[in-house]
Amino acid sequence: MKHTDLCDIHKQYKELIGKEMTVCGWIKSIRDSKQVCFIELNDGTSMKNLQVVIDKASFADVDTVLKQNTGASLAVHGKLVESINPKQPFELHPDKIDVLGEVPEDYPLQKKAHSLEFLRTIPHLRGRTNTFAAMFRVRSQLAAAIHEFFRGRNFTYVHTPIITGSDCEGAGEIFHVTTHVFGEDIKSAEEYAATDFFKRTAGLTVSGQLEGEAMALSLSKIYTFGPTFRAENSNTPRHAAEFWQIEPEVAFADLFDIIELATAMIKHITNSVLVNCPEEIDFFERFYEKGLKDKLLNIVNSEFAVVEYTEAIELLKKSGKQFDYPVDWGLDLQTEHERYLTDEVFKRPVFVINYPKDIKSFYMKLNPDGKTVAATDLLVPGVGEIIGASQREDDYDLLMKQITDRKMTMDDYVWYTDLRRFGSVPHAGYGLGFERMLMYITGIGNIRDTIPFPRAKNLLA
Ligand code: 4AD
Ligand code: MG
Repeated sequence: MKHTDLCDIHKQYKELIGKEMTVCGWIKSIRDSKQVCFIELNDGTSMKNLQVVIDKASFADVDTVLKQNTGASLAVHGKLVESINPKQPFELHPDKIDVLGEVPEDYPLQKKAHSLEFLRTIPHLRGRTNTFAAMFRVRSQLAAAIHEFFRGRNFTYVHTPIITGSDCEGAGEIFHVTTHVFGEDIKSAEEYAATDFFKRTAGLTVSGQLEGEAMALSLSKIYTFGPTFRAENSNTPRHAAEFWQIEPEVAFADLFDIIELATAMIKHITNSVLVNCPEEIDFFERFYEKGLKDKLLNIVNSEFAVVEYTEAIELLKKSGKQFDYPVDWGLDLQTEHERYLTDEVFKRPVFVINYPKDIKSFYMKLNPDGKTVAATDLLVPGVGEIIGASQREDDYDLLMKQITDRKMTMDDYVWYTDLRRFGSVPHAGYGLGFERMLMYITGIGNIRDTIPFPRAKNLLA
């Protein structure tokens, strides 16, 4: 169906005034008055609607149009003309309107504002609201900006497997992949594995990192951008069971190289959204986070903070705050601690570096102190951790010791340790949680509202 996108009309209306065109979309609102009927139409390509003004006296089948409700889909043919409305300097005067799809009265998206909770129950329709259309356009722009950033810096985009045999993060939060069915008579875990599809246990990947390392040790600079899965028992606004991660991995790099890369990436992608989605950002500022635009400009223009884990623990102890969870060297930072550091101490993104080795993953490089690893989390105000990063252990013996000490199944990691036997090099990488980044950029408070069809604890709509 040949037609003009709303975003193009808004961009180039000056050249389009006086031209005939067809525009398609859904009715946002329809209003009848004595001589004219107004339709606000939107096709999802733009934050702004198109006003269609029907002159009832001259329009052939006005009754069919007047019968339509919010949500009905139309193809409108007519002429774009200048309007006296300062908000929208043009409008469409139709000579023909085809009703493509009517809506019955039980259409759940009426003109009034709906709560995000309600909209979560209708993920197949919520993209038609301003909030979700804006979110999904920002999501698309953010994805494009990520590719643009890495491709501009000699990174190769690689695809790592979704079905894996190793638990990268070692936290046991894997969703199992199996063809066994309920009621099969299986006597032991060994028999279960041996008779399964892969003749071994398999799961959905929690991270593309391990395979990403293999690619980086061939191609030097790679990044992945794909779905990852975690069966975490965390029913929080920041945890999804299926979320997307961007995982660059860089050979011949240490922790500080990767901090530099992560900083440049966050700045680049934030700026890209500011430049390419200004109306969406204005919308989120108006309805979801006051000061959002200034916050984003600050991300682009100011330095991020860096603090040692040990110093962060001191700051928390000195804070005089009553935290629910204990604060002590060797314990992990909880959300409330991260919040204090970002929202009250630093008030900007902060890299916490050099965590105790026992609270971090097996693959992280041991620091010379023997107690901490060259790891960092990037914490940001309002959201908390958005990036987990580290330099990787590139020494064969030290890596083997971690795998043995943690009682991991050595067979699953032989190929990974091989990378330290065959031309090992210092290397480092990080994982950015794509949806967490979207929460930060839009001010939306729940991860379930950043992805079209969210999967989370107790939720598969
Ligand atoms: O800190 P994580 O667990 O790090 C890794 O997976 C490393 N293998 C990354 C790497 O070095 N290549 O996860 C990385 C990021 C977190 O900082 C967070 O933003 C996001 O992934 N994340 C989640 N996002 C949504 N829902 C969840 N359940 C998440 N778990 C982690
Ligand atoms: Mg982490």
